[in-house]
Amino acid sequence: MKPTHQKIQHWYKKHGRTSLPWRNTSEAYEIYLSEVMLQQTQVKTVLERYYFPFLKKFPTLKALGEAPLDDVLKMWEGLGYYNRAKNLHKTATTIDCLPQNIEALTLLPGIGKNTAHALASFAFKQPVPIMEANVKRILCRLYKLKTPTDKKLWELAYALLDTHNPFDYNQAMMDIGATLCRPKDPDCSLCPLSLICQGKDAPNLYPTKKKRVVPTREQHVMLSVYNDELSLQQRDGKFLHGLWGFEETEVPLCASEYIGEVSHAYTHFKLKCKVYVYHELNREQEHYFSIAQICKLAISKVDEKIVKLYLDTM
Ligand code: ADE
Repeated sequence: MKPTHQKIQHWYKKHGRTSLPWRNTSEAYEIYLSEVMLQQTQVKTVLERYYFPFLKKFPTLKALGEAPLDDVLKMWEGLGYYNRAKNLHKTATTIDCLPQNIEALTLLPGIGKNTAHALASFAFKQPVPIMEANVKRILCRLYKLKTPTDKKLWELAYALLDTHNPFDYNQAMMDIGATLCRPKDPDCSLCPLSLICQGKDAPNLYPTKKKRVVPTREQHVMLSVYNDELSLQQRDGKFLHGLWGFEETEVPLCASEYIGEVSHAYTHFKLKCKVYVYHELNREQEHYFSIAQICKLAISKVDEKIVKLYLDTM
């Protein structure tokens, strides 16, 4: 075994997050679910609030495929990036078990190159590397790369992989990135890769940080209230598709009352919603729900904030 691989394996046994549930199962579905949940969400959130309840409700790929999408979205509520849930459900309705081959995995909806590699390594024990954000940062620092191409990073990742124990190696790389080779203030003194790290004298230089300016979108949202019930519609556009939500309006009705503003930061934009309440004299909309019923629907974080605002102002 190469000395650096030995050091990584030793470090992982001592300091790695070895008890994470998806690292202690051989069920491909349970690993698949974890990888999809972890695509855009932190370990802590997935672990504390979503992973176990989801598995309890949908214990197998078959059970997931047999469930209505609404139930799946409800279990995903608050986790965001709802396409992930829809893609999981779509896969569950179309296949009985996951393919093992990386190319075939990549053809499944919602599975990109990294997730396909993670599944191949974690669920099917194949000697392939992974490339999530922590691993990318480690590679950039190891080889003093400021703006590497994906192709270059994958080449390096394959060359560095510990093919004797790829499972622990890949899990360790994520943990090293999360706890030592942090984006800010990395701790090189404890790093098992420090012997071969070319960037350790100035790790903050690698990779070059992109400054992202996200635009703000402003919306007017109208709460139509009839008999203490609120009108919601099931969204059918691309954004938040399948979730229930309040109506966006160009211009608030003159008879409506402004009750305040809520905002939410998505990855690509910040959403600010000015919220108005309009008391209807007749049932003018298609669906009305009591607050208790709304709690059972799958709604977005923003709509949840709007419900809170409404309740606070009542
Ligand atoms: N993020 C993606 N996959 C992960 C895993 N297996 N453990 C911890 N964080 C992850």
